[in-house]
Amino acid sequence: MQKASTHLERIRAEAALGGGEARIAAQHSKEKLTARERIEQLLDGETFQETGMFVTHRAGGLGMEKSHPYTDGVVTGWGKIDGRLVYVFAQDFTIMGGSVGEAHGRKIAGLLELAQQNGAPVIGLNDSGGARIQEGVGALAGYGQIFHRNVQASGVIPQISVILGPCAGGAVYSPAITDFVFMVEKTAHMFITGPEVVKSVTHEDVSFDDLGGAAVHRSRSGVAHFTAPDEGALLSNVRSLLSFLPSNNLTPPPCVQPGDDPRRAVPELAHIVPENPQQPYDVRSVIEALVDNGEFMESQSEYACNLVVGFARFDGYPVGIVANQPLSLAGVLDINSSDKGARFIRFCDAFHIPLLTLVDTPGFLPGTDQEYGGIIRHGAKIAYAYSEATVPKVTLILRKAYGGAYIVMGSKHLGGDINFALPNAEIAVMGPEGAVSIVFSKDIQAASDPAVRREELIAQYRSELANPLVAASRGYLDDIIAPAESRVRIIHALEALREKRQPTPSRKHGNIPL
Ligand code: HXC
Repeated sequence: MQKASTHLERIRAEAALGGGEARIAAQHSKEKLTARERIEQLLDGETFQETGMFVTHRAGGLGMEKSHPYTDGVVTGWGKIDGRLVYVFAQDFTIMGGSVGEAHGRKIAGLLELAQQNGAPVIGLNDSGGARIQEGVGALAGYGQIFHRNVQASGVIPQISVILGPCAGGAVYSPAITDFVFMVEKTAHMFITGPEVVKSVTHEDVSFDDLGGAAVHRSRSGVAHFTAPDEGALLSNVRSLLSFLPSNNLTPPPCVQPGDDPRRAVPELAHIVPENPQQPYDVRSVIEALVDNGEFMESQSEYACNLVVGFARFDGYPVGIVANQPLSLAGVLDINSSDKGARFIRFCDAFHIPLLTLVDTPGFLPGTDQEYGGIIRHGAKIAYAYSEATVPKVTLILRKAYGGAYIVMGSKHLGGDINFALPNAEIAVMGPEGAVSIVFSKDIQAASDPAVRREELIAQYRSELANPLVAASRGYLDDIIAPAESRVRIIHALEALREKRQPTPSRKHGNIPL
């Protein structure tokens, strides 16, 4: 017994060293932590329980028969974050570059299944050269199993991908299926084909960073939801995100001690939202004024900036916020912001996170770029996502709400539960200037002073049609509220909707316009 135990301890020590000290040193020299160091940073102290440490590959040929490293290049198990159960896998770059073979893939797929069955979030720490070349179809099978399990777990448990090194080829599709992608700057790269293949196919010269670095995916592709300059900061952001999320789709999101007065007035809102409808402002200032302690965790903060999405709390309860951003493209909706909003709304709906929508938008962005790019198809996603969502939906119109964008931004017509507007809100088919030019063009031309007549008609349109009383009189708004009381009224509304239950039609699934 003693002999067997000693032997096992020796194996454990060998496994814990991954690819060995030289490769660990190489990993550190690239400012990268090892798989085990990352797990230690991510989880609460001494909570990690490892599974499958003794797993090795079964491949032969191409030199594979010479070495059978323990873990097969991926450390798997469970632990706690803020005392809550999570499952975690971390690819070990020191073992065959963290490449995915048949056993490696099976370990990750098995962990995903376990996490799903036990209703706990799963966090994948990715650092891999991709499919293990020597294992051929066995490696592809490994990936296939992971994708399949990611899809089965989607909407059941939160799935988070953290990219801490290379993630190339088909390997990118597992993170892409998961709910949130975190990327570290400098060392993380995601692409379907690397710079060399790009050069040979399209003759473009592009660096690793310019093709698939964190900055590119944060601002241009929208693939990365969160980035950070170093691994420690990134893993700490993962912990923060989890603090807003329930463990699974059958549990409510975690409530915390608010540390902020639910009756707090927000007189500053009247100054943040300018009266002049043409004047831009940062909607994040509105969000920070409204939410508990001004704490807002924004997702995709540099992508499709005309729509702001993220998590905050009201009276300690997590809420997903969707807000037009007048600072960027005047807050119009376009292809990318529709995609961004729709995916965020569907995530919140899947995990019982109520939605607060803050509206200030002149409409959908016109132009051939948008039409040829399929704004019809993409814009429809946001209408679909709001209509489909059964979580509590509270909407506050801050200023402009024109046309189709008024309808899709959480209006009563798409199932908004409690809809408010500020007194200066303008709700109309289009802005006064455009409307007057179309409806009264002959009247303006015939006037002795067309410019003066035009201004008169604009003022008339604004007071008769583009004010919130018209919508309120039809019951499309529940109330017109003073800016200062917005926080209190939102908290009351969310409280009234906390136990909301809304059955959905019996069907296999709807067909969102992807
Ligand atoms: C087997 C691999 C490997 C792989 C790296 N290694 N990638 N082994 N299969 N895919 C091994 C290396 O041989 C090396 O072993 C060790 O990992 C470290 O790799 P280095 O090249 O020394 O590291 P570095 O210089 O940091 O470069 C990392 C890298 C590079 C950029 C990831 O290794 C690379 O380009 N790898 C190939 C990437 C690739 O083309 N993968 C396939 C993508 S297609 P030793 O023993 O020398 O230390 C794909 C299809 C998936 O994944 C489809 C799924 C649907």
